[in-house]
Amino acid sequence: MIKVLFVCLGNICRSPSAEAVFNALIEKNGLGSELQCDSAGTAAYHAGEPADFRMKQFAKKRGYRLTSISRPFNTKVDFDRFDYIIGMDNQNVRDLKALARNETDRNKIFLMTDFCFSDKYDSVPDPYYGDDADFGLVIDILEDACAGLFRKLRQS
Ligand code: 4NP
Repeated sequence: MIKVLFVCLGNICRSPSAEAVFNALIEKNGLGSELQCDSAGTAAYHAGEPADFRMKQFAKKRGYRLTSISRPFNTKVDFDRFDYIIGMDNQNVRDLKALARNETDRNKIFLMTDFCFSDKYDSVPDPYYGDDADFGLVIDILEDACAGLFRKLRQS
């Protein structure tokens, strides 16, 4: 079993969407016994809340249901529980690296767009203060990155 944790700042927009997009690929391919994912935030501002309603609406239009509840990243357990810990932007990756306890933890940290097929994107931009186009872009980038990640993990 390979376990993936998607991480953004608030865990109400980008990482819950990554979780839903990746779960859709896992289900479509019947790989639930081999791949598992979850999401978390580097900040706890929204802990216990469902995903942002705007993000939910955009995800729904594209066929994804966001069901996860926000939780903060937990250094004590998440570095051990997960094999891949994937930040949505460079700040997420820096924050995760600052929390890493050792080289083993650090080697689990990746940037989401590193898995994209397209080289158009170098981060999944935070849509929280953005407009409709920003929420749509999150799903576009995540579909590309999740497809790349899925291909990599199913080969490993
Ligand atoms: P996320 O978006 O990191 O993609 O969940 C954000 C959610 C909330 C805030 C910032 C970004 N906030 O500042 O509360």
